[in-house]
Amino acid sequence: MANDVRTVEWTGDALRLIDQTLLPGRLEFIDVRDVATLIDAIARLAVRGAPALGVTGAFGVAVALSEAAREGWDDTRTDKAIARIRHARPTAVNLAWGVDRVLPLVPKGLEAVVAEAQAILDEDVRANHSIGAHGTAWLRQRTGRRLRVLTHCNAGALATAGWGTALGVVRQLHAENLVEMVYVDETRPLLQGSRLTAWELDQAGIPYRVQVDGAAASTIMRGLVDVAIIGADRIAANGDTANKIGSLAVALACADRNVPFMVAAPWSTIDLRTPSGDTIQIEERDPDEILTWNGAPVAPKGAQAFNPAFDVTPARLVTALATETGVLEVSAGTTPSATQPPHPPKP
Ligand code: MRU
Repeated sequence: MANDVRTVEWTGDALRLIDQTLLPGRLEFIDVRDVATLIDAIARLAVRGAPALGVTGAFGVAVALSEAAREGWDDTRTDKAIARIRHARPTAVNLAWGVDRVLPLVPKGLEAVVAEAQAILDEDVRANHSIGAHGTAWLRQRTGRRLRVLTHCNAGALATAGWGTALGVVRQLHAENLVEMVYVDETRPLLQGSRLTAWELDQAGIPYRVQVDGAAASTIMRGLVDVAIIGADRIAANGDTANKIGSLAVALACADRNVPFMVAAPWSTIDLRTPSGDTIQIEERDPDEILTWNGAPVAPKGAQAFNPAFDVTPARLVTALATETGVLEVSAGTTPSATQPPHPPKP
């Protein structure tokens, strides 16, 4: 990202987040010092994207401990505050994962929690570079041309601690002069594609075109796309993948046209305790995100809306899952459950 700005960072006494709701117009930061501000930032997607939420959850525990010390909270009140952070959004497993990973450090105090959260942040950046390298190597072996990539939502530096997952692959492909064009789905209703992914590609000098979500299947079926690369919010043990609503339609079109559908995600997004996508909780958001535009109504007064934030792509449609340890060919039968994770999850 430009000038190496950090999506999430600990300043010493606050959790500093880029306010992603203001991009691409303004690059501004929020310094979070209390749990209510943090939960609000997560809920309105000032911070978003599964790995970024994982790091935020971990530092969120530090925010809760600092506030507890300031306000004289007892353990029960502190535990409740941490639980609220853990459940602030339901679909991305990384949020709960990040909180859970630092919880054993709570008895040791704030410094120990901050150190573990920082380790998660650093690991995420390293994992994303590995994902980019593995995903690129897999694609390089299968194609002799510069690629026309399609991506959906934002799985870039802004959605992670840095570099990005799906955009990590795109950045590495670009470094090897292997990107011809990136089709960026605008990603209704909150426009993570046009506002955030396009911003990141712009900064990186990678050629892109923004298209409406409804164009994606047609762009693929017209033969204009060599690979779709997306991120993930939760991947079940069998490879079923929850990601931003609209990802499934991309996968279906890819399957029909025999275009590889690549999911790029770290192991922290793989939830081996969820056997399949059927039990992944899909967040439903405020109908007004669909029924209004800049505060003005875009549907008849009283209209109802259905606003699921994510969908689940069945494993059979996922050609490749690029992780920091290598690429799993999921539709060909290599599931996460049959593969050794780098850090076995604790029961
Ligand atoms: O609602 P959001 O913006 O948090 O949704 C984000 C996505 O769906 C991303 O694709 C996913 O979290 C992967 S981010 C590397």
